[in-house]
Amino acid sequence: MCGIVGYVGPRQSQAILLAGLSRLEYRGYDSAGIAVIDADGDLGMRKRAGKLSILRDNLKDVPLADGTTGIGHTRWATHGGPTDANAHPHLADDDKLAVIHNGIIENFSEIKAELVSEGFVFRSETDTEVAAVLLGREYRAHGNDLAAAFRAVVQRLEGAFTLLALHQDHPGLVVGARRNSPLVIGIGEGENFLASDVAAFVEHTRFALAIGQDEIVAITPEGVTVTDFAGNPVEVEPFEVLWDAAAADKGGWPSFMAKEVSEEPEAVANTLRGRMRDGQVVIPELDGLDGLFAGITRIIVIACGTAAYAGMVGKYALEQWTRVPVDVELAHEFRYRDPVIGADTLVVSISQSGETMDTLMAVKYARERGAKTLSICNTQGATIPRESDAIVYTHAGPEVAVASTKAFVAQITALYLLALHIGRVRGSLSPTEAAQQVLELEAIPDKITRILHLEQARIEQFAAWMADTRSVLFLGRHVGYPIALEGALKLKEISYIHAEGFAAGELKHGPIALIEPGQPVFVIVPSPRESALLHSKVVSNIQEIRARGARVIAVAEEGDAAVLPFADEVLRIPLAGPLFEPLLAVVPLHIFAMGLATAKGLDVDQPRNLAKSVTVE
Ligand code: F6R
Repeated sequence: MCGIVGYVGPRQSQAILLAGLSRLEYRGYDSAGIAVIDADGDLGMRKRAGKLSILRDNLKDVPLADGTTGIGHTRWATHGGPTDANAHPHLADDDKLAVIHNGIIENFSEIKAELVSEGFVFRSETDTEVAAVLLGREYRAHGNDLAAAFRAVVQRLEGAFTLLALHQDHPGLVVGARRNSPLVIGIGEGENFLASDVAAFVEHTRFALAIGQDEIVAITPEGVTVTDFAGNPVEVEPFEVLWDAAAADKGGWPSFMAKEVSEEPEAVANTLRGRMRDGQVVIPELDGLDGLFAGITRIIVIACGTAAYAGMVGKYALEQWTRVPVDVELAHEFRYRDPVIGADTLVVSISQSGETMDTLMAVKYARERGAKTLSICNTQGATIPRESDAIVYTHAGPEVAVASTKAFVAQITALYLLALHIGRVRGSLSPTEAAQQVLELEAIPDKITRILHLEQARIEQFAAWMADTRSVLFLGRHVGYPIALEGALKLKEISYIHAEGFAAGELKHGPIALIEPGQPVFVIVPSPRESALLHSKVVSNIQEIRARGARVIAVAEEGDAAVLPFADEVLRIPLAGPLFEPLLAVVPLHIFAMGLATAKGLDVDQPRNLAKSVTVE
């Protein structure tokens, strides 16, 4: 939520800021703005409601003087609607100081009342402007020392924030701070960057530093200084970004989502790479951490949205291969119910962004309660892995489209690797069984590619025919159930069509009342070879809804003829072991959601009201 970028160096900053913002726009696209200290030493600012393209066009029509120090922001509105006035940057100190912010300042009204009583005037409804005006006041109170003023401000603020500021009296300096919101430093040659995500500067440098919790950073063209909120110097962790700028570009695809669906095979393959040795799973990042898994009696998986559905799929493999009971819980529910956890609990969090506030807070809560924490994450340098005892990265590459696709299959893959790793460490899985599962996993990328080659065009055409549909239901059993939930979430999220996923067995307990003639229902059909009983139950469920007029679209394995008499349409997936079917069955559903939203003429990458990283609770 909200993308932030800052630049200091020898180059004119506007193009760098706008290119960075376009890579961060997935974080929010309600408004955008930049502030630049120009060659004359004056601060110029421009901001507009709406997508970044509106700001870009405006800057083309009415240029803003350029300069070598600047900050930029793309917003997902929290306090105050998406208007020009509420867009960032916010100015203070007679418009010489500019501030941008990501997060929520919880005590903003109390500070605002204090500032208003002192005669300060506000031009927006945002919590950010409160931080800007406070910084202006403290700047003067601290003898025009921007860093000292910044320290005073962040110590007053409560909540979650990344703040960046610049002042026209200090060209060549951008200061930033972070608490519970992301901020990374990009180290260039004679130039430095600050951003919410490395994507904003990866075309200029792949060398980065991750800033810790409650730390302040100052960048100049010559260097970087990081301190804690009290001003004590702190060590920062360097890392190299493992992908390049091309990975974060559309690369000729009509949308990022189309590109990312096409990358699902690669996301699985890259997540597997380097983690299998002689038919066994060995996760190098977990070397020396066997103790984390030894005494556990329980695993709790916490995540939100699509990541939580990956967790639900992972539960089956974790329980089967580790014989440890697993609960999957929505992160935002977790810490509000006094869960029974302790040193014998392993809490596994899953997050593509590594920043989801609900998940972060749940991880912190689990740690405070003495649980062991392991993070499955797709973003290097993100907050959640840094707050966890152990990390298993998914290597899906940057995911830019708001709706998660390739990260989902990578998350399931990582959970399976983790389950096999724990199974080996605890001795709950024989090497022969493990080797069998490894073979299945290794075969997945080619099977997804097969679906993309054989079925994608047909599914897209079929989705286009359904563009006027008002409601779609999704049914599944066992590992097919979370896939039904994921299919429904993806459809509602990008096509704005009502969609719901149900466990197929639950239908007769209520939801079957929704079925009326013509109601489209997707059914994830388990393999008849692997589980004849489950398959026959699902076929019975299909007959029940068909008898009531439902239009059935079956997602079934190649060669399953039993569904043919009862399905209006069959989308085929290659054969796989029962636990591995979700990695295949989800692919037609991702293609379908994307095809339908595209046929409706919607922006599949930036659906309304959403943002990719949800950094508010
Ligand atoms: C849906 C989607 C969201 C995210 C959820 C968690 O397509 O993308 O439901 O899965 O917001 O995000 P992360 O994984 O970044 O914690």
